[in-house]
Amino acid sequence: MTTTLTLTRPDDWHLHFRDGDQLRGTVPATAQVFRRAIVMPNLTPPITTVALAQSYRQRILAQAPDQSLFEPLMVLYLTDATTRQQIIDAAASGIIYGAKLYPAGATTNSDSGVSDPAGIYPLYEELEKQNIPLLLHGEVTESEIDIFDREKVFIDRYLADIRNRFPALRIVFEHVTTADGVQFVQSHDRLTAATVTPQHLMMNRNDLLAGGIRPHNYCLPVLKRREHQLAIQQAVLSGDPRFFLGTDSAPHAQNKKEAACGCAGCYSAPAALPLYATFFEQHQALDRLESFASFFGPDFYQLPRNSDTVTLIRENWTIPSHAEVGGLTMVPWQAGVELPWRMA
Ligand code: DOR
Ligand code: ZN
Repeated sequence: MTTTLTLTRPDDWHLHFRDGDQLRGTVPATAQVFRRAIVMPNLTPPITTVALAQSYRQRILAQAPDQSLFEPLMVLYLTDATTRQQIIDAAASGIIYGAKLYPAGATTNSDSGVSDPAGIYPLYEELEKQNIPLLLHGEVTESEIDIFDREKVFIDRYLADIRNRFPALRIVFEHVTTADGVQFVQSHDRLTAATVTPQHLMMNRNDLLAGGIRPHNYCLPVLKRREHQLAIQQAVLSGDPRFFLGTDSAPHAQNKKEAACGCAGCYSAPAALPLYATFFEQHQALDRLESFASFFGPDFYQLPRNSDTVTLIRENWTIPSHAEVGGLTMVPWQAGVELPWRMA
């Protein structure tokens, strides 16, 4: 039985670092394992300009462990006020690797997001021209639409048309949660991709709601029924290069998660790679972990694959019950669960 597993160093193609003191906890947790991360821009205020991205990038780098060579890949937050010139500036900056579309109100700190995803076609056109990927939170926000249907309605109402009108635009369907999203990606060429979180691979809505409500499994888009989980699993296990690792690690303080109105987000960074390794091994597909974690993402982003490696050791390891993040207590996703793999 394999006792160690060495793979090309992975990258995290969807991550929330937060800001301020929290960076002291979140940046090392990721930088110890991952070489690069696509850093989500949903701060208050959001990262809407190159100048904001530059200073946030410096704050992140200041917390990276020495010699980690960690590289934050910054993302521009799209709003109704974003201009074509801001996208041109982002392309010229050399530090921005994507533009994030949050439909206004869809999730944490999305109030400044886009009020009508069909109303910013000039921005999609400029992104296509500048070869900057469009990163989508693919959910509609209307209260009358059932929360379990919001991803499918987004695809039908917006994404299909965006895809058709901008054929050279690279699109990442972030944190895909439905069979509909999986099929949409599979039915297009390699310019359409999706990130996959550990929770959407390993869980379905029973893990959120059956036998008691589990606030630490609550994220957005919300976990769906098992048939959707199976579609995501099959896409990943098939070795399709359009599906790659993006943890969506999103810390919220314990008291904000375990609350009458709990925040959405799973803090998966402390155990991210052992979690994915456990999933692949459970499905007799450990040989496919490396391409999912380390190859397909850089290939899509037109970046070099990493040249160094990380090693996992087969040794039972229990995910810590708590993590201290900038003076706040967080509960890591799957806290207390024993995994068969740990980082060397
Ligand atoms: O669960 C989530 N948490 N989904 C998101 O889209 C945002 C994230 C956060 O920032 O907390
Ligand atoms: Zn996210």
